[in-house]
Amino acid sequence: MIKKINLLFAILLVLLTPSYIFAEDSYTVTCESSYANPLTGETVDGGSNLALGNSMIDNMLTKEVKVEPTKDGYYLTFSLGLASNISNVRFQTMDENQNFKDVPSEHIGTHEDPNKDDKIADYRVKVESLDLYVSPIFYVDPMERDVQFFIKPLSGSASEQEIKKIESKKKDLSSGLSTHIKDDSKDGDESGISTFDYVTIGVGIIVVILLCIGIYYVKKKR
Ligand code: HEM
Repeated sequence: MIKKINLLFAILLVLLTPSYIFAEDSYTVTCESSYANPLTGETVDGGSNLALGNSMIDNMLTKEVKVEPTKDGYYLTFSLGLASNISNVRFQTMDENQNFKDVPSEHIGTHEDPNKDDKIADYRVKVESLDLYVSPIFYVDPMERDVQFFIKPLSGSASEQEIKKIESKKKDLSSGLSTHIKDDSKDGDESGISTFDYVTIGVGIIVVILLCIGIYYVKKKR
């Protein structure tokens, strides 16, 4: 009898485990960058040496971008090298009509660059679409001025299978099944974990405790 109850608890536990524990949250795409506005061929920060600007971007920008779908867009994580030389980092997006828009960003961490005697800083940027140019702006200490350039995430560079998996996750998020990715636009619950998830986590913990008690008694009886 006790064995049957334990089996029932185990099944319940699996069924109640929130789907996001198993689901994947992100994929990585490559990106291309340019110092000049790709639509006009002109820089937007007043600089005129395109070749020097492009090589400086190549020297500091990691060409891999982490993509995390949210209910209403994406979080993109960009890694900027030579980070000890830069400050006041912010981001804009640019659409095909050259409309620039400030977008929220968050400095999520800084770590040593294994290839250079400097640091890499990671920034998570919230965008509405992957089909926009993302444009970082920051102050470069040795240049004593702000620079601005353009990044295009190449959304087709991730594997089709990976994209499908994540996009179906995005649908889940939109339908409210699982909202564990932090959504700044939502008031209240900062962690982004829904009430549904809290309930399932709570029930899951209770089931595990009951399961442990069951196993303990079975062993004691033997
Ligand atoms: C942390 C990264 C960077 C460092 C340490 C850095 C450093 C420098 C230095 C020392 C110079 C003067 C070079 C000389 O006298 O010949 C310079 C010039 C220049 N840099 Fe950077 N740079 C950085 C990032 C960038 C980025 C990201 C861009 C483009 C978006 C850029 C664009 C330029 C341009 C166009 C010049 C020519 C002078 C000017 O237009 O002001 N640099 N940079």
